[in-house]
Amino acid sequence: MGKPILILFLLLSLAFLVFSSSIYKDDTVYEKKPVAYDAALQKEGRLIWQKNNCHVCHQLYGLGGFLGPDLTNVADKGYYYIDAFLKVGINSMPIFNLTEEESLHLFEFLKATNASGSANPKDYTILMDGMIVQK
Ligand code: HEC
Repeated sequence: MGKPILILFLLLSLAFLVFSSSIYKDDTVYEKKPVAYDAALQKEGRLIWQKNNCHVCHQLYGLGGFLGPDLTNVADKGYYYIDAFLKVGINSMPIFNLTEEESLHLFEFLKATNASGSANPKDYTILMDGMIVQK
């Protein structure tokens, strides 16, 4: 084996080792988003979600009806944004006459789904060891 090839081989081997060790040492990809919701209220909110059949038209974690968008992370848009849709309706989304309390509980539920991770498949990556983690 010629000298340049040997050097190239050693350099690539070193790069492989550095890259591999950096992947196995990086724990940050396993971290969850901080959870900031009221556990008791989010249960109430889940009942309101079920009672009003939101899942007929909307998905959570990609599962549900496909008339409206996935709402797993809609809490990022804020309470008033969601409340406006419920009060006014839009296109094929009906108006829901929820009390303010119900609406707040529903928001607590949507904050909980939001805190569990992202529903967008593009936010996930497959690691070299086959694990699927959120970016
Ligand atoms: C009959 C079908 C239907 C039902 C039931 C329904 N929605 Fe919708 N919803 C839609 C459609 C369709 C849209 C998208 C409207 C558009 O932008 O044209 C939508 C949009 C929304 C949006 C805005 C999403 C965004 O990212 O802009 C929110 C929030 C929402 N719905 C919440 C709810 C909640 C909460 C419930 C249950 C209380 C519910 N919806 C029930 C059809 C529905």
